Amino acid sequence: MRFDATKRVLVTGGAGFLGSHLCERLVEDGHDVLCVDNFYTGSKRNVAHLLDHPRFELMRHDVTFPLYVEVDEIYNLACPASPIHYQHDPVQTTKTSVHGAINMLGLAKRVGAKILQASTSEVYGDPEEHPQTENYWGRVNPIGIRSCYDEGKRCAETLFFDYHRQNGLRIKVARIFNTYGPRMHPNDGRVVSNFIMQALRGDALTIQGDGSQTRSFCYVDDLIEGLVRMMSTPDECTGPINVGSGFEFTMLELAQKVIALTGSSSELAFGPLPQDDPAQRRPDLTLARANLDWEAKTPLDEGLNRTIEYFKGL
Ligand SMILES: NC(=O)c1ccc[n+]([C@@H]2O[C@H](COP(=O)([O-])OP(=O)(O)OC[C@H]3O[C@@H](n4cnc5c(N)ncnc54)[C@H](O)[C@@H]3O)[C@@H](O)[C@H]2O)c1
Repeated sequence: MRFDATKRVLVTGGAGFLGSHLCERLVEDGHDVLCVDNFYTGSKRNVAHLLDHPRFELMRHDVTFPLYVEVDEIYNLACPASPIHYQHDPVQTTKTSVHGAINMLGLAKRVGAKILQASTSEVYGDPEEHPQTENYWGRVNPIGIRSCYDEGKRCAETLFFDYHRQNGLRIKVARIFNTYGPRMHPNDGRVVSNFIMQALRGDALTIQGDGSQTRSFCYVDDLIEGLVRMMSTPDECTGPINVGSGFEFTMLELAQKVIALTGSSSELAFGPLPQDDPAQRRPDLTLARANLDWEAKTPLDEGLNRTIEYFKGL
């Protein structure tokens, strides 16, 4: 029996980009936060400012192995998220998504915790529907180089819903769309970090294809707000719910904006499109608005400026 009302919250992948912002937010909200990470793509530096906080604890652990802790809520974020990182050891990527989900769901079942899965827009693959609603089943290549991530995340969703149906677990599945902000890995090959690093170095910004493919980017603080709101929805709200920004622009427009905001003299260089790269991706946010009363608010220029400042300080 516990006598104190503080929630004990586990964040797996808590030393990563999104995880570190989530830990920070949960500590600020007054919770006891246990950050679990194997530092595969994350780092202690991302949570260094929290290490002395009495409500924060950092544990080195790989989620492909079972974990025995007492917690009330679990945010399952552990998984390399950028193509360079998740394709480096694709078998480990699938294991992290699938075995990690089984282990964290097993933990949630043992201790009666509520559990949120950081799923992804990649479950939609290269979509034939635009924007993507949560009812869309996706168009994913099961044997391509992105499959370890896409199919791993799809299987994790399946496991979440089976534990919910079979064991009555309280689950939340958030399908996260592209997010950016401070503490993104500078060399992870993601387009925002790539463009900013290239612009700051004065190198040409490398655009894949002709740059007409579109994306929507959500600033990290907005995304974290969406995840926290989702965790506090009533039990019948399981998701999946798309969380991301609905504001869409081309990669060419993004490159030009980064050059303008950094004041760089960089030029643009065009290269080939990677395999299975979706041409368009934008969330339908009807469910997020209705269930979370939430929308991404940070303007692109403001979010980019904060991110540029972070990269300048590295
Ligand atoms: N950033 C985005 O745009 C985005 C979009 C969709 C989904 N997501 C999901 O959000 C989560 C966090 O993404 P991110 O952008 O912060 O990536 P990230 O790589 O910065 O963070 C992932 C964290 O998980 C840790 N990790 C990896 N394998 C692990 C394992 N086996 N055991 C314990 N820890 C492990 C890494 O060390 C890292 O700290 C991921 O699950 C990702 O799939 C992110």
